[in-house]
Amino acid sequence: MGIQITPSVLNADLSRLADEVARIPSSDWVHIDVMDNHFVPNLTLGLPVFESLARATDLPLDAHLMIEDPDRWAPAYAEAGAGSVTFHVEAAKAPVRLARELRAKGARASMALKPATGIDQYADVLGELDMVLLMTVEPGFGGQKFLDLVLPKIRRTRELISAAGLEVWLQVDGGVSPETIERCAEAGADVFVAGSAVFSADDPDAMVQQLRKLAAG
Ligand code: DX5
Ligand code: ZN
Repeated sequence: MGIQITPSVLNADLSRLADEVARIPSSDWVHIDVMDNHFVPNLTLGLPVFESLARATDLPLDAHLMIEDPDRWAPAYAEAGAGSVTFHVEAAKAPVRLARELRAKGARASMALKPATGIDQYADVLGELDMVLLMTVEPGFGGQKFLDLVLPKIRRTRELISAAGLEVWLQVDGGVSPETIERCAEAGADVFVAGSAVFSADDPDAMVQQLRKLAAG
């Protein structure tokens, strides 16, 4: 599939969500951060806002669920029209069953790992997934500093995917910017979330294009 850029609207003007999304037409996806104030210490938006946005844009939505009990809630995001639904492995009770349910509902199934969660114990699950999301900050807030300590895990995940002959996408999220994206791409990431880098730029769409170019090397 190649390099893909999925801007996070977390740091955009949330009172004008559809207008903000209209500023980034070159994006491959729009990344929507759903937070419940339990899994992470922040609260953003839920299903009703997500459903409205799905109707308001032609870009595919990439739902990142930073919530407790994704087994219960994630399938509803697939039903609401998410092209991809990411749940956190630290929160899921039955990740394999959940991934299968998401796929059955027509969404891409994706599993996220916080910075301190190792990938090796999940090697056998990769075949159930369409994407792995490696957090490069502790989840909860935009605008944090990229954690270089995740780079070896990006490399290791890419190795595991290749060794198994799979076509799982590898997404990175947190602190991705023109300064850090090349490191991520070089380590094997191919899908890049960028929040503050895109929405604090004077021309967000130009930033999307610049990030894509840098990642492509
Ligand atoms: C953080 C969210 C990210 C966040 C990224 O928990 O999952 O998607 O919006 O924002 P930046 O790119 O500013 O780190
Ligand atoms: Zn995110």
